[in-house]
Amino acid sequence: AAPQPRITVIGTGYLGATHAACMAELGFEVLGLDVDPLKIVALSRGELPFHEPGLPELLVKHVSSGRLRFTNSYREAADFGDVHFIGVGTPQRPGESAADLAYVDAAVAELVRNLTRDALIVGKSTVPVGTARRLRRLIDDELEGRPEPAAPRVALAWNPEFLREGRAVQDTLAPDRLVVGTDDGDAESRALLRRVYAAPLATGTPLIETDFETAELVKVAANAFLATKISFINAFSEITEVIGGDITTLADALGHDARIGRKFLNAGVGFGGGCLPKDIRALQARADELGAGAAMRFLTQMDEINLRRRDRVIHLATQSVGLLQGARIAVLGAAFKPESDDVRDSPALDIAARLYNSGADVTVYDPQANRNAAARFPRLEYARSLEEAVSGADLVVLLTEWEEFRRLRPRDLEPLVRERRFIDGRNVLPAEDWKASGWEFSALGRRADVVGLHEVREQVSGADPRSRLAPIDFFQSLA
Ligand code: UDX
Repeated sequence: AAPQPRITVIGTGYLGATHAACMAELGFEVLGLDVDPLKIVALSRGELPFHEPGLPELLVKHVSSGRLRFTNSYREAADFGDVHFIGVGTPQRPGESAADLAYVDAAVAELVRNLTRDALIVGKSTVPVGTARRLRRLIDDELEGRPEPAAPRVALAWNPEFLREGRAVQDTLAPDRLVVGTDDGDAESRALLRRVYAAPLATGTPLIETDFETAELVKVAANAFLATKISFINAFSEITEVIGGDITTLADALGHDARIGRKFLNAGVGFGGGCLPKDIRALQARADELGAGAAMRFLTQMDEINLRRRDRVIHLATQSVGLLQGARIAVLGAAFKPESDDVRDSPALDIAARLYNSGADVTVYDPQANRNAAARFPRLEYARSLEEAVSGADLVVLLTEWEEFRRLRPRDLEPLVRERRFIDGRNVLPAEDWKASGWEFSALGRRADVVGLHEVREQVSGADPRSRLAPIDFFQSLA
């Protein structure tokens, strides 16, 4: 049999580190490259710079066996690899919606500059449609001008990544589908990637071989669909919050229709993280550039629905404590979702920061993300335990549905809090039990039945939503 292709993974962030370790697990010799020397030092010691279940074990196993190594030298990577996966970031450009492709372009250019042997470059990063074709030209320009015998043959394929944080290993070793985009049906590149993915293909993973543009679009279309599904149910939250009804029962009933499905219909503070928010914005921006902006305009609304969920929590909190200024608020959760320590565009952390900026005394507790959250918002208080966070609280707000929080029962908190007030931002706790224990309990997607002082104040202060946040003095002057 032909020797196994050797693999490099360029960019060892979330995507790249996972891909590199999983490729080693599939039996390949792998070299990971990153320009950040600290990352290389940590990974070479078998230390993972982020939380991802199952990944530290794979990293240690393959770093110790020598099958997985890391470098910051493009020369070394270019000499080593037959297949070079590009997994660098494509962040949102500051102050814009579009994606920043500087890292992708630099990685490809730098690699090609160092190549002296034939290679297949495989893009995995999420990119605006049209990028692969542009990179193809960039590669050709880079190779042009090299003396004929020295010029290597460099192929390009696009192989988007669909992994979810928290399930990254499983999603990489046994993906739902593999998508490979090539130019002109490039048979050689397709064959090589079928060898690389022989293991998942042997267990029946569907393989979609297509062109560059379709491959690029599959990824952004999938994320746009998922974001839309979440915002769809959250849009109905805005209705049930006014007229009543149970958003979870609505989602369950919808989900029984197999064409709709129950997944991604959990109402709450909405989506965050390093992918969905930036990807839907980048897709709109790209559609605008292509003159097809009207087709993707609905995504702007999905984004807006998503961000309004955060306002709702601020509003409920204000209603609940009367005045945020000086209120002790315990925020449970900082990560954008459970089983992750990622706080990028996290609804939980955004809400915590906004409560703080409104004068509340906020203590955050997250089982994994305290450190990342503190790096972003050092002025919030961070508790080492749930008990510490809720001690003396006037209000407890659940914003990331970690298992530890899903198990909470009223009697766990009663000896610790100052006031029995709770907002369930993820619809994971049984509201009736809490209310029966004398808690003022509100949840997103449910009509707030806070009757009392603050509800009255809101009615008095009129219909202008901004005046709902009017200072308490106004009400006191009426009392
Ligand atoms: C997502 C895609 O799922 C993945 O395929 C792609 O490769 C990258 O982006 P990820 O960002 O890891 O993955 O998170 P995901 O599990 O999709 O959750 C995204 C956000 O939506 C989280 O903030 C989550 O809390 C929220 N969400 C999810 C909801 O609010 N309701 C739901 O029903 C599901």
